[in-house]
Amino acid sequence: MRPDIRFLLGDEERSLRNIDPQMTVLDYLRLEERKSGTKEGCAEGDCGACTVIIGEPNGDEGMAYRTVNACIQFVPTLDGKQLLTVEHLKSKDGSLHPVQQAMVETHGSQCGFCTPGFVMSLYQLWLDGGEEDRGAINDALAGNLCRCTGYGPIIEAARNAGGVAANDTAEQKRRTDLAIRLTNMVKDGGTLAVEHAAGRYYAPRTSDEL
Ligand code: FES
Ligand code: FES
Repeated sequence: MRPDIRFLLGDEERSLRNIDPQMTVLDYLRLEERKSGTKEGCAEGDCGACTVIIGEPNGDEGMAYRTVNACIQFVPTLDGKQLLTVEHLKSKDGSLHPVQQAMVETHGSQCGFCTPGFVMSLYQLWLDGGEEDRGAINDALAGNLCRCTGYGPIIEAARNAGGVAANDTAEQKRRTDLAIRLTNMVKDGGTLAVEHAAGRYYAPRTSDEL
């Protein structure tokens, strides 16, 4: 029997059955996977502390990536996609990703609570090729709030981090291979994912509906 949903957590395949369709990606990461890098701040989509990246096959480009707030994203929506968290950025040899290194060098973190979320938004910029324009950086970081560092050093980190080159053949191959893997993984459609796609599942609004 086909599992409810299948997705990649980083590079590792996950097949879930009988999950609570209202479980958020944030709760899944912290409570089920015990990955605590993704933080819970507001738990209602305002602060960006829970920012993660979702990648999905996108025709010619191979993969399309976008940041989402894990606190308001339900786990069934991950079917056929790749979920990336701050834990996936560090290299196997322990070295920091360029966006993390840039945050260190600009002193872009004080208490650190917002930092994983900012790092994931910076990583999205990096995946998109990097950005130096202040307005575009502001837009990319608009969903992330910091209460203590201030935004100047983080914006400087965004400028300094650079990005993957559009003509990087190794990266292009990686994205194409990943898209094929994801597409093959979910050819027949998972139960909960189909319910969501068809609009047959909705979140209860009152406790009486639970
Ligand atoms: Fe604040 Fe998710 S915890 S946006
Ligand atoms: Fe403390 Fe941003 S470093 S909230």
